[in-house]
Amino acid sequence: MRVITQKTVGDASVLEVAEVATPVAGPGEVLVKVGVAGVNPVDTYIRGGGFPALGEPPFTLGWDVAGTVEHAGEGFAAGDEVYGMLDFPGTGGGYAEYAVVKASSLAKRPSWLTVEQAGAVPVVALTAWQALVGRGGLSAGQRVLIHAAAGGVGHVAVQIAKARGAYVIGTASAAKHDFLRSLGVDEVVDYRHQDFTEIEPVDVVLDTIGGEYAERSAKVTKPGGVLVSIIPSNPGFDVDRASELGIRFELLLSVTASGADLDALPQLKVQIDHAVPLADVTKAHELVESGRTTGKIILVL
Ligand SMILES: NC(=O)c1ccc[n+]([C@@H]2O[C@H](COP(=O)([O-])OP(=O)(O)OC[C@H]3O[C@@H](n4cnc5c(N)ncnc54)[C@H](OP(=O)(O)O)[C@@H]3O)[C@@H](O)[C@H]2O)c1
Repeated sequence: MRVITQKTVGDASVLEVAEVATPVAGPGEVLVKVGVAGVNPVDTYIRGGGFPALGEPPFTLGWDVAGTVEHAGEGFAAGDEVYGMLDFPGTGGGYAEYAVVKASSLAKRPSWLTVEQAGAVPVVALTAWQALVGRGGLSAGQRVLIHAAAGGVGHVAVQIAKARGAYVIGTASAAKHDFLRSLGVDEVVDYRHQDFTEIEPVDVVLDTIGGEYAERSAKVTKPGGVLVSIIPSNPGFDVDRASELGIRFELLLSVTASGADLDALPQLKVQIDHAVPLADVTKAHELVESGRTTGKIILVL
């Protein structure tokens, strides 16, 4: 089968097409014929050697897949349309014609998702769900601030928050404000020209940026509120600092693959920024590394 591999870590040009043996599913696993593989920022960190989660190359990146089940078993029929997340970090392997996925990490593709959208969404939707609902306990009537609301995680997070009945404030540059409003965002902040700490206090923050954002976001978190970060680097900010400020801090270090969580998602509009053929993976990584995409980048097989 065709895969994307790399012989060394480095910039996006290290990614190349190779032929390898098709993997075999073991107990509790399902072989998926991949139609679409999602690309996430973490893929670019691992490719570049900044996050050695897969050990030494060669390896195949990719944790988001959508496609069809190849052989019946583990509760699935051959030909079932599925989508899911591979274990992270695990062994990767989504940028490939076939991927082995745990049966418990797969879900049947609902009719409201195209195969392109389904391949784009597992990592970001599971992250948003586990951060806002699992860690944040977001409930109806609460106010939530979502940073980078037009990004992969952000654009699904705002929809999950709206579906739970929250009042949603999203940050993005001005050109993306109409997009945010089309997703139901109640209040938009142009973070380039407006200090987000000037908004009315919120019950929940989803920090997708890190660095000084945790300390600044804490300023607009109501006493008893919760700041959920998905970024490991928050210098000077931790659980103790949060408790000094009378708020709760939750760090979702790594999203967990879960077919049950995918099944629990509300209906989402998944935005595809660019769909790129597998062989153009270098372009896909460069787009993600621009940090300016709206929604998701996907690889089409
Ligand atoms: N812990 C976990 O399990 C987990 C899981 C998934 C992702 N993550 C991490 O979460 C981060 C976000 O992931 P993603 O997939 O959403 O990234 P992404 O799609 O690449 O984010 C791109 C978006 O970020 C926006 N942006 C950049 N700087 C901003 C700022 N200062 N304020 C507001 N918006 C800003 C850009 O909008 P503008 O063009 O308007 O700036 C763009 O729309 C990444 O670092 C990723 O590695 C962690």
